[in-house]
Amino acid sequence: MINKLISVFSGSNKVSISPRPYINHSVEFKKSNTPEERMKTLEKVGLNVFFFPSEMITGCDFLSDSGTTTMTNEQWAALHLGDEAYGSNRGYFRLREQILKTFGNDFFNPPEKGKPNAFLFHQGRACENALFSIIGQMGTNLIIPSNGHFDTTQANIEANHITPINLFSLEFKNGDEKFRFKGNMDILALKKLIKEKYNSIPILYLTITNNTGGGQPVSLANIREVSEIAHHAKIPLFFDACRFAENAWFIRKYEKGYSQKSIRAIVLEMFSYIDGFTISFKKDGLVNMGGGLFIKNTGLFTKKYPHLIDAIMNFQIRTEGHPSYGGLSGRDIMTLTVGLKTVMTDEYLNYRINQVITFGEEMKNAGLPVQMPIGGHAVYLNVNKFYAGTKMRGEDFGGISLTALLLGLYGHRACELGYFAFGKYNPNTRKEIHPEVNFVRFAVPRLRYERQDLSAAIVAVKALHDKRDKIPPVKVVYGRDLPLRHFKARFQFLPKFH
Ligand code: F0G
Repeated sequence: MINKLISVFSGSNKVSISPRPYINHSVEFKKSNTPEERMKTLEKVGLNVFFFPSEMITGCDFLSDSGTTTMTNEQWAALHLGDEAYGSNRGYFRLREQILKTFGNDFFNPPEKGKPNAFLFHQGRACENALFSIIGQMGTNLIIPSNGHFDTTQANIEANHITPINLFSLEFKNGDEKFRFKGNMDILALKKLIKEKYNSIPILYLTITNNTGGGQPVSLANIREVSEIAHHAKIPLFFDACRFAENAWFIRKYEKGYSQKSIRAIVLEMFSYIDGFTISFKKDGLVNMGGGLFIKNTGLFTKKYPHLIDAIMNFQIRTEGHPSYGGLSGRDIMTLTVGLKTVMTDEYLNYRINQVITFGEEMKNAGLPVQMPIGGHAVYLNVNKFYAGTKMRGEDFGGISLTALLLGLYGHRACELGYFAFGKYNPNTRKEIHPEVNFVRFAVPRLRYERQDLSAAIVAVKALHDKRDKIPPVKVVYGRDLPLRHFKARFQFLPKFH
C-alpha cells in the first residue's frame, strides 16, 4: 500500500519550491520607520551605509555574509560548554579534531609535539596581518599574486610594503556568462609573472571562492595546476579559504569527475595541494567571530621558511594570545567546532547556495544586470550596465548612489564594491583610477532570510532601475584619497550631472 501510494503520487510530490531544511530557533522583531527617517539618518552619516544603524534596517542587510550567520541550536548549546581556561581549554582539543577531519591531518600538530602550526586569531584580517608582517621582513620589492585579493588582504599586504597582484581569469575579464569557474587564476599570466619575477614572490595565494571576482569558484583543475606551477618554482601556495565549503559545492556540481564525491573528499583534495591557509571562520565556519592561520607541517612553506613559523607564533602571542586560544574565547571555539561540522552537510550547503542562486536568477529575470553565473555567497550587480544609457559616469560613483537610495527609500542595505571601494584617486592628475570591477554586492547572510525577504529586495532594486535616469551622482566630501576609503568616506547627492 505504501509503495503504491508513493508511486501514484511520485512526480507530483516534486514541487518547485522545497521547504527550508531548518526551522527558526528564535527570531527578532524589527523596528519600523519611514523612508524620510532613513533618508535623514543616511544624510547624517554622509551616505556611507557602513555608518547606518543596523537597527533601522527594515529590509535585508546584505552588507556582508561575514559574521552575520544565524547560529544553530547546537551551536548555542555548545557555547555553554565553553571552557574559559587561560591555556589549552577543552574547545581547543575538540577544534583540533574537527580541523583534522575537515582540512586533513597536516594542518594541526599535536600540542605535545611542541611545534605549533595552527594559529587562532579573532578574525581573518588578523591572520593576514600576522602572515604578511612576517613575510614583509624577508626583503624588499616583494609581490604576492592571487586570483583576486580581498580588500583587507590587499591592504595588509600593502601595509607591509609588498605589492599585491590580481591575476583574474580571462573568462572573468571577458564577462563569459557560461564558464562555471570564473574565480580561477589566469595560468598564462602566472607563468609569465613567475618567469619574470621569480625571486620576488615569497608565496602565492588563491582565494576560494573569489570574493573580489564576483564570488566565483575556483576549479580543482585550476588549484592543481597552480599548485604544480608554484611547487615547480619552489613557491609555497596558500589559500584564502573563507568560503571553502561553498567552493567545494561548485566543484561537485560542475567539475567533471566530482559529481559522486562527498564535500568532505573534495575539501580534502583541495587542501592537499597547498602549503598553508588563512581563513575567516565568520563565513564557512558559521560563526560570528573567528579566524585562523594554518601551515602544513609537510608543506613547502615549512621546509623553505622554517624560522618564520616561530616568528608567527611570537607575533600571535604578542598580539592575540597563546596558540591554544589565540584571539578566541573558549565559547567561540566551541561554536566554531560545531559550525565546521554543519557547513559540510549536504542539506545545509544545497539549501544555502541554491538560495543565493535563486535570488540572483530572480533578480536577473526582473531585468537587472546580474553578474553571471551567480557565485556562492552573494549576488553582484554590474553598476556600469545598470546605468547604461544614462548620464552616470564612472567618477559619479553610481554604485554609491544606488546603495544609498536602496537603503534610504526601501530599507535594504547592499554594498558598493567597485569604482569607489577598489578605485584610487590620483591627486597629481586629479583623476580617478578605476579598477577592473564595478559591482554592488548583495551578500546573503547564512541561515538568516527567507525567500520573501529576498523577493522584497528585488522589487526595490527593480523600482530604482526603472527610474535609473533619475538617480543622482554623488560628490565625495571626505576621504577620497584615504586607503580603504569606502569604510570611511562621506558623500553628498549632487543636484545634477556635471
Ligand atoms: N578574505 C576574504 C576572501 C574575505 O571575504 C574576507 C572578509 C576576509 C579575507 C577578511 O576576513 O572579515 O574575518 O577579517 N570578507 C567580508 C566580506 C568582510 O564582506 O566580504 P575578516
